[in-house]
Amino acid sequence: MPSHPPKTFYLETFGCQMNVHDSEKVIGTLVSEGYRQVQTVEEAGLVLYNTCSIRDKAEQKVFNRLSDYKKYQKQGKKFAVLGCVAQQEGARIFERAPYVSMVCGSASYRNLPEMLVQIEAGNQRVTGLDDRETDKCFETEFTSRTNPHRGYITIIEGCDKFCSYCVVPFTRGKERSRTSDSVLAEARQMADLGYTEIQLLGQNVNSFKDPAGKHTFAELLAAVGQIEGIKRVRFTTSHPRDFGRDIVEAIDSVPTLCDHVHLPVQSGSNRVLDAMQRLYTREQYLERIAWMKAASREISITTDIIVGFPGETESDFQQTLSLLEQVEFDAVFGFKYSPRPNTPSLKLEDALPDEEKARRLAVVLEKQRDIQRRRYQRHLGQILEVMVEGRNDRHQQWTGRTTQNKVINFTGPEVSPGSYVPVVTTAAFPNSLAGQMVI
Ligand code: 5AD
Ligand code: SF4
Repeated sequence: MPSHPPKTFYLETFGCQMNVHDSEKVIGTLVSEGYRQVQTVEEAGLVLYNTCSIRDKAEQKVFNRLSDYKKYQKQGKKFAVLGCVAQQEGARIFERAPYVSMVCGSASYRNLPEMLVQIEAGNQRVTGLDDRETDKCFETEFTSRTNPHRGYITIIEGCDKFCSYCVVPFTRGKERSRTSDSVLAEARQMADLGYTEIQLLGQNVNSFKDPAGKHTFAELLAAVGQIEGIKRVRFTTSHPRDFGRDIVEAIDSVPTLCDHVHLPVQSGSNRVLDAMQRLYTREQYLERIAWMKAASREISITTDIIVGFPGETESDFQQTLSLLEQVEFDAVFGFKYSPRPNTPSLKLEDALPDEEKARRLAVVLEKQRDIQRRRYQRHLGQILEVMVEGRNDRHQQWTGRTTQNKVINFTGPEVSPGSYVPVVTTAAFPNSLAGQMVI
């Protein structure tokens, strides 16, 4: 007999912000279908995993996790695998983990209500895997956002770029944008509910193309930034190829657009960029950086780097290091190349030993740490506007973020999360700042 109350679910999320936000929509949908979220697997009738397959042996990790939960099968719990590993592995999941009763990729979440009915009816193999070619986005009125001040809005799903190392076009399907009208309606609704920070999301956010032809991406950004009550607008992730000067101009002229752009470069070598099918050269990337550096406000720039792509020579690698030096990013997310199923680069020989990839990654991160140590110093003495996130009791400090998305820990009187306060910077570290609230 089931030991859990009916219609309870536990959801665990792995991966990027898109997945985190998809989970908010899944939760909203489940709740609107009469389900109640619980905080432990023990209490739940339905256990869902929203999975990520961007790097490493993600599939294996999911299967290991699932086998941990095999024991719950006898208690009548149902298991569902969602997200990128679900899409990638498909019905194979049922073979390897027969106690799983639902496998669903992100393009099929729109059909969750019907799928839930099937699960409840005792169907052992409910799938949602065939919708990757859809033209529809997963829009829902029932998004259950966890943070009451800062929230995501998806503006574009999928990706048509097919970088040679990347699974995303295979797991999230083809690119499809929402209309700017529906994005703006959601943003206004959030502003009415008291949200002050909005983060526009997409695998390729700046490839946004309004199906109604009303707004370009830069115009949409500006329009969201002009909604009454909205104090900060962020967007992620941008692709350099589609990153137009109009985005920088929008940031420059609309004060609510945050002074931060995440622009993944992946490599500083033209030869490697070409093999990655990134569709831009080092020079074109640097041109975009120059636009940002010429802006009247200081825009913080962060990036992603992959080391050890097949065929990356020491000289290619040195060019990545020289690019880091040239741009002086405020943060770098570095990854060792990992071959992914279905991707074109699987055909290339991945000959570099893991130790060499690890060495290159360590060199990148160490160099970047030095750069950040230098870069963060320039905030010393500046008064920065900080959105308060919470209290760090161990250090008896408040913590929050600047418009450049930098973490700042600070002392001062009682403040509430979600408020904006001025803080003078008194210390700088490679990954954070410290300061004192200006009263
Ligand atoms: N191997 C290593 N890193 C990868 N990324 C994407 N695919 C791979 C892969 N196969 C990195 C890229 C991307 C970030 C989200 O993950 O740097 O920008
Ligand atoms: Fe992957 Fe490239 Fe698309 Fe980014 S742009 S999601 S790296 S294929």
